[in-house]
Amino acid sequence: MSSSASPRILNVDKIRKDFPILETSKNGKRLVYLDSAASSQRPDSVLEAMDDYYHTTHANVHRGVYSIAENATALYEKARVKAGKLINAPKPSKEIVFTKNATEAINLVAKTWGLVNLGESDVILTTKMEHHANLVPWLMLKEQTGCRISYLEIDSNGELILDDIESKFDGVKLLAITMASNVLGTIPPVKYLTEMAHKNGALVLADAAQFVPHRQCDVSDLDVDFLAFTGHKVMGPTGIGVLYGKEELLDAMPPFLGGGEMILDVTLEGFKTNEIPWKFEAGTPPIAEAVGLGAGIDYLTAIGYGAIGEHERGLLDYCSNSLKTTFGEKITLYGPKETTKRTGLISFSFETVHPHDVAQILDDHNICVRAGHHCAKPLMYRLGLSATTRVSFSIYNDTHDIDALIIGLVQVVEMLG
Ligand SMILES: Cc1ncc(COP(=O)(O)O)c(C=O)c1O
Repeated sequence: MSSSASPRILNVDKIRKDFPILETSKNGKRLVYLDSAASSQRPDSVLEAMDDYYHTTHANVHRGVYSIAENATALYEKARVKAGKLINAPKPSKEIVFTKNATEAINLVAKTWGLVNLGESDVILTTKMEHHANLVPWLMLKEQTGCRISYLEIDSNGELILDDIESKFDGVKLLAITMASNVLGTIPPVKYLTEMAHKNGALVLADAAQFVPHRQCDVSDLDVDFLAFTGHKVMGPTGIGVLYGKEELLDAMPPFLGGGEMILDVTLEGFKTNEIPWKFEAGTPPIAEAVGLGAGIDYLTAIGYGAIGEHERGLLDYCSNSLKTTFGEKITLYGPKETTKRTGLISFSFETVHPHDVAQILDDHNICVRAGHHCAKPLMYRLGLSATTRVSFSIYNDTHDIDALIIGLVQVVEMLG
C-alpha cells in the first residue's frame, strides 16, 4: 500500500519528532500508536512547560504573597483563559472550572445543578451512544431524585434518529449529549438540538471529550449551557478536565466539594462560598496540569483545527478503504459512511476473531489499538456486540501507521480467522 494515497496536509514526520514516545520501539518495531481517542500522546513542549513550572515556579496558588506563589497563580489562571478561548467561552475567567477530568466535570453538574433542579416529573434526554461518563451520573441522579431518563435512538449508519424530535422534549429539563461518539465517531447536530432544547425550556450539557481534540468547538455559537472536555485527549496531561458553564448558571449552583479555596468565609456555624469559578475548585487544584494543558492547547492551536480535520479525514478514508479492500466481507465497520460526519476513529469487528485477540496480536507488532466496550455498554447492547476493536488517529499518525495496522491484521486473520 502506498502512503502517497493520502493527502499530505500536515508534515507528520516533523510533528512526530515533537513526541518523544513515538521514537521508542519494542523488539525492533517502532511504536504505532492508534489509541488517541483513549488518550493522546504529549509533545515535548507540554513536558517542558510542566518541568519548567516545577523547576522554577511551584508554590500553592491563590494564597501566597511571595513571588513564586503569585507567578504560579498567574500561570494557573492564564491556563484557564486559554482553555476558555479554545472553546470560545464568552467569559473564560468566570465560566471555566478546572476539574480532574471530563467525568468529574459532568458529575459536578449532576450533583449540583441536577440535585437542586430535578424532581420526579422531570426528564433527562440523552442518546444511546453516550460514554458512561455522560450516562452513569444521570442514572445516579435518577436514583436520587426519581427523575426519568429517555434516549434518542440511532440508525444503522450510527446517526441519531431525529424524526418527531419536538415530541422527544416533553418534560425534558436537560439534554445531555455527546458531541462526538467515542465508538462510532458520529458528530450529532448539537447546535440544532440545543435550539430545540431551549425552545422547549431545557438546558444542554455537551460532552465534548472526543470533539475538542479534533474540531473547532464554539460554545458561543452552539449556545450550550454546560460543556465538558478532558486534558489528556488534547495533548495535555492526565489529572485535569474542563467544565464550561454559563455564568448565571454557575453562579446559582451550590458548590460541589467542600474545603479550602471554595470559601470566602467559614465560621463554626457555616460558610460562605467563593465566587465562580473557585467555588467549584475545592482544595489545592491541579496547577502543573493546568500549565501542561495550556501548552497542549498552544500546540494544537498552532497546528490549527482546519489542518487537523483535513488530515484526519484523509486517514479515515485511507484506513476504511484499506480495511474494506483487504478484508471484504470478513470485516464490519461501524459508524457513518461519510467522513465529514465523524471524527478520526474507526471501530470494527471480524466475525470470527475476538477484539481482545486482535489487540493482543497487534501488540506483538508494537501497534496500540483499543478493544472492548469502550465504556459505552448501552451502545454495545444496541449494536448487538460485546466489544469492537477501535483505531483512532491524531496529528502524529500517517498512512505508514495504517499500512502497519493492515499487515498486523492480515496476520491476525491468518492465525485466527
Ligand atoms: C465521549 C467521552 N466522554 C467522556 C470521557 C471521559 O473522559 P475522562 O476519562 O478523561 O474523564 C471519554 C473518555 O474516553 C469519552 O470518550
